[in-house]
Amino acid sequence: MKLQSIAKKIRKPMTSNTDISPLFYTRWSPRAMSGESIPKEELLPLFEAARWAPSSYNNQPWRFIIATGEQKEKCMDFLIDFNKQWCKNAAALIIILSAKNFTHNNQPAQTHSFDTGAAWMSLALEGARRNLVVHGMQGFDYDKVKQTLQIPDTYQVEAMCAIGKFAKKSVLPKDMQDKEKPSGRKEVSEFVNWEGKFEWG
Ligand SMILES: Cc1cc2nc3c(=O)[nH]c(=O)nc-3n(C[C@H](O)[C@H](O)[C@H](O)COP(=O)(O)O)c2cc1C
Repeated sequence: MKLQSIAKKIRKPMTSNTDISPLFYTRWSPRAMSGESIPKEELLPLFEAARWAPSSYNNQPWRFIIATGEQKEKCMDFLIDFNKQWCKNAAALIIILSAKNFTHNNQPAQTHSFDTGAAWMSLALEGARRNLVVHGMQGFDYDKVKQTLQIPDTYQVEAMCAIGKFAKKSVLPKDMQDKEKPSGRKEVSEFVNWEGKFEWG
């Protein structure tokens, strides 16, 4: 709760009169977690939020493998050492996959990763709304995940995320404590072109 209010102070929308939901700029990716478990009933709403994401042909290509308890300990093996250090206190590790082909015709779904990214963001925002840590990860061995969990080639391993209860940053190693704060962003003018042109280097 306290960490959320810190985030609200640091991150601001573009100007004070740009009215966007505070959820967008108060969500961030902490690493400090308490090690407490989170019951299924508390995790479920995050996936309910993911459920309503838009997707091409409403194909809903996202899949989430949820690992808690003993399964979570096994999935820790997938992570790079940096991520192992802070994920040990997560309540759950999630493996995010997407189906490469459409269900209705088995043809390649061009936007399967894009669609699954939308679902992941919904999950992350709902987690933030509930004061949970939801932290995305690329730092793991993708091949090991595919082999260990026997993921067929028709699915893409997109990312992992850690979910847990907030904790004070003192639970983290010193170098991570210094990074334990919401990060900044590019200006809108750096990623938007209003002239209908591609003008980035
Ligand atoms: C797909 C993805 C992969 C990421 N991989 C890692 C990771 O392996 N380890 C880590 O500590 N943070 C990871 N992050 C967190 C990002 O560094 C973080 O989201 C980014 O710096 C923006 O900060 P914010 O989420 O606090 O706004 C990842 C985030 C995403 C979305």
